[in-house]
Amino acid sequence: MATEPGAGLAGIIAGHTAIATVGKEGKGLTYRGYSIHDLAEHSTFEEVAYLLIYGHLPKQVELDEYKVKLRGMRGLPAPLKTVLELIPRSTHPMDVMRTGCSMLGTLEPEGPGHDQVAVANRLTACFSAMLLYWHHFHTDGHRLDTETDDDSTAGHFLHLLHGKKPDELHRRAIDVSLILYAEHEFNASTFTARTIVSTLPDFYSAVTGGIGALRGPLHGGANEAAMELIEQFANTDEAEKGLMDMLAAKKLIMGFGHRVYKISDPRSDVIKAWSKNLSKAQDDRRLFPISERLEQVMRREKKMFPNLDFYSATAYHFCGIPTAMFTPLFVISRITGWAAHIIEQRADNRLIRPNAEYVGPDPRPFVPINKR
Ligand code: ACO
Repeated sequence: MATEPGAGLAGIIAGHTAIATVGKEGKGLTYRGYSIHDLAEHSTFEEVAYLLIYGHLPKQVELDEYKVKLRGMRGLPAPLKTVLELIPRSTHPMDVMRTGCSMLGTLEPEGPGHDQVAVANRLTACFSAMLLYWHHFHTDGHRLDTETDDDSTAGHFLHLLHGKKPDELHRRAIDVSLILYAEHEFNASTFTARTIVSTLPDFYSAVTGGIGALRGPLHGGANEAAMELIEQFANTDEAEKGLMDMLAAKKLIMGFGHRVYKISDPRSDVIKAWSKNLSKAQDDRRLFPISERLEQVMRREKKMFPNLDFYSATAYHFCGIPTAMFTPLFVISRITGWAAHIIEQRADNRLIRPNAEYVGPDPRPFVPINKR
């Protein structure tokens, strides 16, 4: 049944959106009409966040004000820090994001003085601090000062992670990655967020649900799984053999395939070029060549192409980001797309409640417990 037409809502138009187009004619991605290639080449994550949340590209003065606003919203309230300190060290960082988001919703609930756009900006501003406050407290025992003088989200994240200002190559690589991850129409986590918000709860409930949906390896979790795949091999020949064995065993190869794109993922070449640059910069002779070999074999054997998650994995690795933080970085970016969809859903809401085709038993008489 899982492969029947329409299973997993494949190919079903489940609503309208003016935010993004995905896979027109099997390829292509636009945010509010702008091509992802133009955005990745010429804009910054903050410009894209503004575009998604406010609906238009900012003028310089608007962008400057927006960046100042985000910088002013990075700090964490004391009770949230206490909760982060209580979350066990062994927790997956995605669960830290989910719990942190939910907790912030109790401390700064949406309502008078804290409208939906303010919540969207607050979460965009402080997700990095949430993750890295927890990380540093549990790895090196210090209570992180979550303020930095970096005015970009990418620079702020890397600065908090490594304790120093990042170099420009790394900062811009992460900035571009955040642009690529920001929005993707009715993907599983966004559709989850829209479904939740269609019942008229608060903003944080929808984002918390989105984080849960993003966590799995068929969606955002694939970037971590792709890294685990790539780094298990010592060289390219071993990678080819290992991949052939996995394909023979009918295993899923993480970071490949896509529900909507049929020819290629337009984001993949962009992040691949960044991964290649980063690989060269640190004289990597193993991970990038292995990735390319895996890509070649998947094209040859399965006619499959890498999705955004595949080369994001090595790009993040070369920036010194621990693998378990790969999907949280996706959250740090995708909050902007979720926010745009939550706002759009609320503006023209109808409860999302599809029907199911019943395939269970015919009506039958109830059997009392002592007669079963
Ligand atoms: N490795 C091996 N085979 C695959 C893969 C893969 N990554 N993806 C699909 N296939 C195979 C399926 O097994 C299926 O084969 P079959 O017809 O012999 O049964 C065929 O290709 C069609 O695949 P579907 O399952 O119909 O694809 P679906 O649209 O349901 O799933 C998905 C899309 C979930 C992305 C899938 O390709 C997958 O699991 N990929 C790996 C996980 C991944 O990279 N996820 C990230 C998605 S992008 C993102 O979130 C940024």
